[in-house]
Amino acid sequence: MGTLRVGIVGMGIGRPNGRAFARGARSAVTALCDLDPARMDDFAKELPATVTQFTDFKALCRCDLVDAIFIGTPNQLHVPMALEAVKCGKHVMVTKPLADSGTAARKLVEAQEAAGVVGMMSLSTRFGAECQYLAGQARAGLFGELYYGRARSIRRSGIPDWNTGFIARGGGAFRDMGVHVLDAAWYLLGQPRPATVSGAAGARFGPRGEGYWDFRRVPESFSAQYDSDDYAGGLIRFENGTGLQVESFWACHQPGELQIELFGTAAGATLHPLRTFTTIAGAPHDTTVNLPKGPEPWDRIAEHFTACVLDGVPCDAPLRHGWIVQEMLEALLKSAEQGKEVRLRGLD
Ligand SMILES: NC(=O)c1ccc[n+]([C@@H]2O[C@H](COP(=O)([O-])OP(=O)(O)OC[C@H]3O[C@@H](n4cnc5c(N)ncnc54)[C@H](O)[C@@H]3O)[C@@H](O)[C@H]2O)c1
Repeated sequence: MGTLRVGIVGMGIGRPNGRAFARGARSAVTALCDLDPARMDDFAKELPATVTQFTDFKALCRCDLVDAIFIGTPNQLHVPMALEAVKCGKHVMVTKPLADSGTAARKLVEAQEAAGVVGMMSLSTRFGAECQYLAGQARAGLFGELYYGRARSIRRSGIPDWNTGFIARGGGAFRDMGVHVLDAAWYLLGQPRPATVSGAAGARFGPRGEGYWDFRRVPESFSAQYDSDDYAGGLIRFENGTGLQVESFWACHQPGELQIELFGTAAGATLHPLRTFTTIAGAPHDTTVNLPKGPEPWDRIAEHFTACVLDGVPCDAPLRHGWIVQEMLEALLKSAEQGKEVRLRGLD
């Protein structure tokens, strides 16, 4: 196989992912799938080559126009769609979060690994330039032992007001945005095995009709359907003793921020701005890192997936990672609901 032929499902987040595959030297977008033909037509016009359009996902899976499928539909559809793709022998890439439950995520990972196809998460924070820089420094030993992390995604007024189905069925702030910082922080900490999770979560803005995207007003008929968390936070303790504090707010009275802070025995770091902190000659030594403009995260993601399929390169963001992150997410929400710490087991 000289060129990886990719089918893109979901014309929202499918667009940046699809553009990256279309730009790739060894990949091409050959098919699109969405329930909305107008959205597909619109994206098809941007692409360099003709694409076949599908409104029936199963028909896309059965066709021989694609070797791999990118899934960018609402959260609750990721696993059923990826299972179908894997059953048809297609390699899969899934947007975040992998699933809407730990059980569904595990089922998919088992099916994908048994099928012997490549399964990868598309993670724009993990594959961002800053996170990749810190991961490289962690591998090179800059931080010594990384023993603690703090990760947060904070929006001032950012509840999506365009999709009640998402808010009610696919999840809330924690599955939507908490997943980005949780995944990236866990990756940077070296993917330790989670042991216990303790969390607090709730909805303080959405049901009151406040905190929607860019301070927009929504009708009461909309906010009355609000049925998920608009904030969640807690502490994850790993088997090796590492701790990770993680928080996500879709709306709150605090400045907006997406931040990861790393605490290591030899050095620490922040993601935004990208800075490292150490002690030299008995004095604090702080460095601001100005990265040169590099590829977009989507290009790194598409290129890595292509290399995994075409060259057999080991996957740096396998669906298995998506599953373990999902288990941590769900455990935090469960802990908040039950008012007690949750122990995680059986993540092998
Ligand atoms: N940075 C990121 O990685 C990032 C950013 C935004 C969204 N996302 C993820 O992408 C997913 C979709 O979010 P979005 O913002 O693109 O939503 P969206 O509503 O803009 O797009 C979803 C698309 O899926 C289509 N769809 C729904 N059901 C379908 C079906 N059965 N068959 C075919 N198409 C179907 C819809 O018609 C719609 O066009 C979510 O899981 C979200 O978490 C990831």
